[in-house]
Amino acid sequence: AAQSRLVVAIDGPSGSGKSSVAKEAARRLDAAYLDTGAMYRAVTWHCLDAGTDLSDAAAVAQAVRDADLDISTDPGTERVLIHGTDVTATIREQFVSESVSAVATNLEARAELVRRQRELIGEHARIVAEGRDITTVVAPDAQTRILLTASEEARMRRRGLQLGQVDGAALKRQVVERDAKDSTVSNFTTATDGVYTLDSSDLDFEQTVEAVISLVEAGSSPL
Ligand code: DC
Repeated sequence: AAQSRLVVAIDGPSGSGKSSVAKEAARRLDAAYLDTGAMYRAVTWHCLDAGTDLSDAAAVAQAVRDADLDISTDPGTERVLIHGTDVTATIREQFVSESVSAVATNLEARAELVRRQRELIGEHARIVAEGRDITTVVAPDAQTRILLTASEEARMRRRGLQLGQVDGAALKRQVVERDAKDSTVSNFTTATDGVYTLDSSDLDFEQTVEAVISLVEAGSSPL
C-alpha cells in the first residue's frame, strides 16, 4: 500500500528508554529516525574539542551555527559526524553528558538546532524524531506526539544497566541533576494538549514499542 507522510514526535527524560524505543518504532514503521539529543551532544563535543569556552554563550551559539553536522537518519545506522570527525561513540561518554547543558540552555544554539531538525524532518516522508522539545517546539504538528515517561525508580534501574554501575546515590544524582538542568529550557515532564503520555514504568521494551506503534496506527487522537 502507498505510504502517506508520517511524522512521529517522541519526547522524554533521560532513562525513559526513548532512543531505543523510537529507533525500533522507526524500523517497524519503515520510517527514518532522528536522535536530536545526538545533535546537542555532537556540538558539545566539538566545543570541548575546539576549546570553545562553554561559559561564553555567544561563542557557543556561533560554534553551533558554524557546525558542519552530519547525522544518519537511518534507524539501522547510528552515525554522527561533526566537521568530518566520527563522534558516534564519543558523544555517549560521561564528559559530554556533563557539559551538554551549556548547549541545551543556550537559546541561540537551540534555535539553530531546531531549524536544522525541522529541515531534516522535512526531507523525509516518514520519520520518528525524538528529544525533549519535539512534541512542543520542533514538530508540534506531528500526526503522533508522545511523551514517554517512566518513574524515577524505573529510570534509575535502566541507567544503572546502561552505565554498568551499582552506586545508587551517584546514579540518582546523575538522573535528577540532568533532568533539572534540562528542564530549565523545556518542560518535558508534563505533556501539553494533544500529546499522549505513555508511562513505560511497568512495560518492557517490546511492550513499549508496541504501544508506540498502536498510537501511530490509531492516528493518535489523544484520549
Ligand atoms: O537524549 P540525550 O540524553 O541524548 O540528550 C542529550 C542532552 O541534550 C540532554 O541533556 C538534553 C539535551 N536535549 C535538548 O535539550 N533538546 C532535545 N531536543 C534533545 C536533547
